[in-house]
Amino acid sequence: MAMTITDAIDCVGAPPDEAALRAALTRILSTSDADERESVWRAASRGLLENCGDKVYYRGLVEFSNRCSLNCYYCGIRAGNEGVERYTLSHDAILDAARFCAASGYGSIVLQSGERRDAGFVDFVEAVVRDIKRETVSDILPQGLGVTLCVGEQSRETYERFLAAGAHRYLLRIETTNAELFVRLHPESQGLDRRLECLQVLQDVGYQVGTGVMIGVPGQTVEMLVGDLLFFRDFGIDMIGMGPYIPHPDVPMAAEGRGEWASDDAYRTGLLMVACARLLLKDVNIAATTALQALDPEGRERGLEHGANVIMPTLTPTEQRGNYLLYEGKPCVDEGREDCRVCLSARILGVGRMVAYNEWGDSRHFHSRQ
Ligand code: 5AD
Repeated sequence: MAMTITDAIDCVGAPPDEAALRAALTRILSTSDADERESVWRAASRGLLENCGDKVYYRGLVEFSNRCSLNCYYCGIRAGNEGVERYTLSHDAILDAARFCAASGYGSIVLQSGERRDAGFVDFVEAVVRDIKRETVSDILPQGLGVTLCVGEQSRETYERFLAAGAHRYLLRIETTNAELFVRLHPESQGLDRRLECLQVLQDVGYQVGTGVMIGVPGQTVEMLVGDLLFFRDFGIDMIGMGPYIPHPDVPMAAEGRGEWASDDAYRTGLLMVACARLLLKDVNIAATTALQALDPEGRERGLEHGANVIMPTLTPTEQRGNYLLYEGKPCVDEGREDCRVCLSARILGVGRMVAYNEWGDSRHFHSRQ
């Protein structure tokens, strides 16, 4: 007899063995039935409450540069996309965003950019991190803003310098753990092995490490997504950010469109992945990502209901937002940082959750792993 959804949910929470777990994750990720999906998100919501509480943590997001030396086939700001006007925010502009972030009570900031490894870039990021830490110390935030970096594959020495400057979390998405799919997404010069090695170095030097995958990529199967979830568990990932793949019109993968994934399927599977990650990994931080909202105006609220507990209000200046389009239809590009603050807190309260102000909101998983 086929596994019921309730059995599958129970199994992911306390798997008797690896084969049963794989079958249960496959069962959950494959459902399109509305009642079953509701059982899944309700279970994930309970799992979140039990393991992490009901607070939603903010990370103010500064997309500080769209200059990139890489050529990922899916990404709108890849080096080869000549239609993009390139920018890098000044040190002062980033510090201004950090002050707004602290004053708004967000507690943590994420600095994200295209990928560069030149000395000028590394020096710049290091100096910015150091100054953000120095300038945001207050009675309310005695250790300053929590700083997360998302600036790609770097050397061990660079990761150590950023950590010493005061960053304590790092996001580096693996995009997929399937070797064949990874090759379809990246030029030969970017390998899965190197990405895994960087994640290992980040963990070794002492960061709280976040990763994630795109969901609904042409050629991706449910089996591959199950493999991704097991990787998160086996590696001991602390934080997860993942969302549906959304084609960008001016990149090589545009020719493939959505492949075998309808937009609705990518969206629903994205939410189910969040729920499975919560049920399986329990005490990690999981972001409700903007890509979910790109496919449904209430995508981020649905993400929270499926077990996410982190949201990233955008601090990028409005003038630059239109130049940081990783995919088509990115939401909030015409809005300012004040709009994002007001809008997000209303959305969070609307789904019955609390916003945590002036807290770092570190991953409990990181502390229990220590
Ligand atoms: N669709 C969805 N997500 C994308 N990203 C980049 N391009 C796309 C796209 N077309 C995600 C990648 C990257 C993160 C910064 O944005 O997962 O790691």
